[in-house]
Amino acid sequence: MNILCIGAGYVGGPTMAMIALKCPEVKVTVVDINAARIAAWQSDSLPIYEPGLQEVVRACLGRNLFFSTDVDAAIAAADMIFVSVNTPTKTFGQGAGRAADLQYWEKTARQILANSKTDKIVVEKSTLPVRTAAAMQRILDSGGGDVKFEVLSNPEFLAEGTAIKDLQNPDRVLIGGHDTDAGRRAVAALVDVYAHWVPRERILTSNVWSSELSKLAANAFLAQRVSSINALSALCEATEADVCEVSRAIGMDSRIGAKFLNASVGFGGSCFKKDILNLVYLCETYGLTEVAAYWQQVVSMNDYQQDRFVRNMLSRMFNTVSGKRIALFGFAFKKDTGDTRESPAIRIARQLVEERAQVVISDPKALANAKVDLRDLGDRVQYESDPYAAAEGAHAIALMTEWDCYATLDYQRIYDRMMKPASFFDGRNRLDHAALYQIGFNVYGIGKTALSHL
Ligand code: UDX
Ligand code: ADP
Repeated sequence: MNILCIGAGYVGGPTMAMIALKCPEVKVTVVDINAARIAAWQSDSLPIYEPGLQEVVRACLGRNLFFSTDVDAAIAAADMIFVSVNTPTKTFGQGAGRAADLQYWEKTARQILANSKTDKIVVEKSTLPVRTAAAMQRILDSGGGDVKFEVLSNPEFLAEGTAIKDLQNPDRVLIGGHDTDAGRRAVAALVDVYAHWVPRERILTSNVWSSELSKLAANAFLAQRVSSINALSALCEATEADVCEVSRAIGMDSRIGAKFLNASVGFGGSCFKKDILNLVYLCETYGLTEVAAYWQQVVSMNDYQQDRFVRNMLSRMFNTVSGKRIALFGFAFKKDTGDTRESPAIRIARQLVEERAQVVISDPKALANAKVDLRDLGDRVQYESDPYAAAEGAHAIALMTEWDCYATLDYQRIYDRMMKPASFFDGRNRLDHAALYQIGFNVYGIGKTALSHL
């Protein structure tokens, strides 16, 4: 069998590498219009940072895993085509800021149609609005030729930073297909691919639309948990409750569960906000105004949390950060990735620059992306890979990303070289606040009582 994936990004690359690893008899090709990206996948410096990915790619590259820019030829040769091109939020016209921009996706559908001479199973991997698979089926059927296409939905649930672990041992694999003979055959073919390493009871099948909606719903539920605990963090700061103690207490209720209850500076990443806004738009399209407003609030709370973080920094630093050096520790939207899409650090850095702070950004993997995100700010922002150098002469450090490396720094050494009073704003509650306070820092966690010498 020949499997093709169109789109060599954060989803397509790792997912196909895992399929190639686990299915040595299948030839897996990944194509992208971005030639630099394709070249990077074939080199020692992969286009994305993901723990364990390099080893998986190295094991399969040139054996049964191939990267190419020749999209047309690869389509012609494929039996099964995964579509994992980007589906960003629309920035123009109807639904701007909320609906998915389907231009890359539709272009891909037309390209598949134009280059297919044999029957294909087309697998929707990108997160798309519900009923997009039906639109894809209509485009593919519009050719009027003999070639038959069967469209499946197979949403990806991997999280960045743990992609290899998630792919190797997924909680579940979801495959949506049509309830027809051809649909059932296509579903069975994809089930067989995953069954190479995923226990069959964890491979769920459903109708296409349930599968599409489940992806949006899973991300909406996860983001909702983060927004819920973040909402409570504001109340904890106003009272003397500690959000970590609250998380622990509620998380031990097995009906609630302990995961995804870490209060933070806000959620980021390419999926949560985009998928919720999609869901909101979808609800509005169906006239479900109250349902739309309900989910919209998850995103609004996330914006509030980031704005609140900056407001707190300002008020703790005597209502002015103008001319003050502030080191941001971390810029990626979470640890173990270089991805900065929708990272709260972007909004926070911009607001601090607006307040005329001298912002210095440090991150072990995300500096290149940070420079692109903030390129319009020019030299109003500095970039420094060494956290000690970033903090030198600073009035404050703000932890944006929970990278393990920030927990083991020599904070006495850092404190000694900072301006006084030195503040530490822990946007992830990752560090030992009592120890920092002991050194001399004023420490401000999320949802915690301030530890201040002032
Ligand atoms: C998410 C989903 O988890 C994944 O299933 C889907 O396929 C893609 O979207 P991802 O965005 O890669 O994955 O990372 P995730 O671990 O979900 O974190 C999202 C954001 O929430 C990060 O910014 C993270 O720091 C934040 N978060 C997560 C919190 O602030 N607190 C938590 O308790 C958990
Ligand atoms: P995700 O996080 O969903 O994987 P990315 O942006 O990382 O999203 O990856 C999507 C990839 O799809 C990009 O590398 C982009 O160049 C590629 N792409 C977009 N449109 C096409 C297309 N028509 N043909 C091939 N690749 C495409």
